[in-house]
Amino acid sequence: MLAIETQKLSRSFKGKPAVSSLNMHVPNGSIYGFIGQNGAGKSTTQKMICGLLHPDEGKISLYGKSGDDAEIRSKIGVIIESPALFPNASAYENMMMQAMNLGVSNPDKKIKEILKLVGLSDTDKKKSKLFSLGMKQRLAIGQTLLGDPRLLILDEPTNGLDPQGIIEIRNTLQKINTEQGITILISSHILGELSRIATHYGIIKQGEMIEEIDKEALREKCKEYMTVHVSDTHKAEGVIRLALEGKHEIEVTEDAVHIHHYQDGEKINRLLVDNGIYASEIKQHKMDLEEYFLAAMEGRTHA
Ligand SMILES: Nc1ncnc2c1ncn2[C@@H]1O[C@H](COP(=O)(O)OP(=O)(O)OP(=O)(O)O)[C@@H](O)[C@H]1O
Ligand SMILES: [Mg+2]
Repeated sequence: MLAIETQKLSRSFKGKPAVSSLNMHVPNGSIYGFIGQNGAGKSTTQKMICGLLHPDEGKISLYGKSGDDAEIRSKIGVIIESPALFPNASAYENMMMQAMNLGVSNPDKKIKEILKLVGLSDTDKKKSKLFSLGMKQRLAIGQTLLGDPRLLILDEPTNGLDPQGIIEIRNTLQKINTEQGITILISSHILGELSRIATHYGIIKQGEMIEEIDKEALREKCKEYMTVHVSDTHKAEGVIRLALEGKHEIEVTEDAVHIHHYQDGEKINRLLVDNGIYASEIKQHKMDLEEYFLAAMEGRTHA
């Protein structure tokens, strides 16, 4: 079952498209990393999904129902702009005010549970204005949890955080996902961070979804390859192809030949030397999410 599905979602600002015919598929229970450069259309897409912005065209389904369905909408927790906290109130008091707004029954117990979950149990009377940015973000996430969401939509929640803050948010989100089964849509351009928690990815470029891929498929695609740096890539490619008899996928870039799933550097070196080719470097390489993302941006991942 899909938590979110968009079909041909589009939105322009003053005639300039921000999101174009975007199809997104967020499976229930997933942590979906929504990746794209500045201005790619991440926030615009997320705002339309949460109903903060009206699409020009297209359809949004949440758990198989129309995005306009009020009941479904009440099951979505959203943090898009920076969190609105009462600066002179403690974590508990901020949570209590939100609980009152939402009419949560038995709020004390619930607040204590959530504060534990987001790692803010021991902040006592400390005013939220004295919190680090990461603590404020976790408090905001805690507030959204008061509404028992099935789905959390977070727009760059690690923006501006230091490495420790990023790790804490990451752990919190992972816990929320595994312990409470909450689906999380999270946008970011800190790719390395997403790769530790995301189960699915969507890559957006200039308003268009250029690829959706799950963790396993990404791992498969990011498998190791050997990079052989040579000046005459064309000649080297021919020699290597002949010797490997089509057993390995071979790719040629400007200054190197890539051999997928292959380790024997000595053999390749000898082969090249025997053919009068000298490699300046031969090394093993593993693509990570960041490289995959850049390759996807340049349209190289389907090659
Ligand atoms: N309210 C608005 N009025 C006019 N243009 C807008 C508005 N909101 C967004 N845009 C434009 O739409 C495009 C997509 O913006 P959006 O904020 O969705 O990108 P983003 O991927 O969230 O970028 P960032 O990583 O910088 O947050 C950009 O060109 C932006 O300038
Ligand atoms: Mg944005």
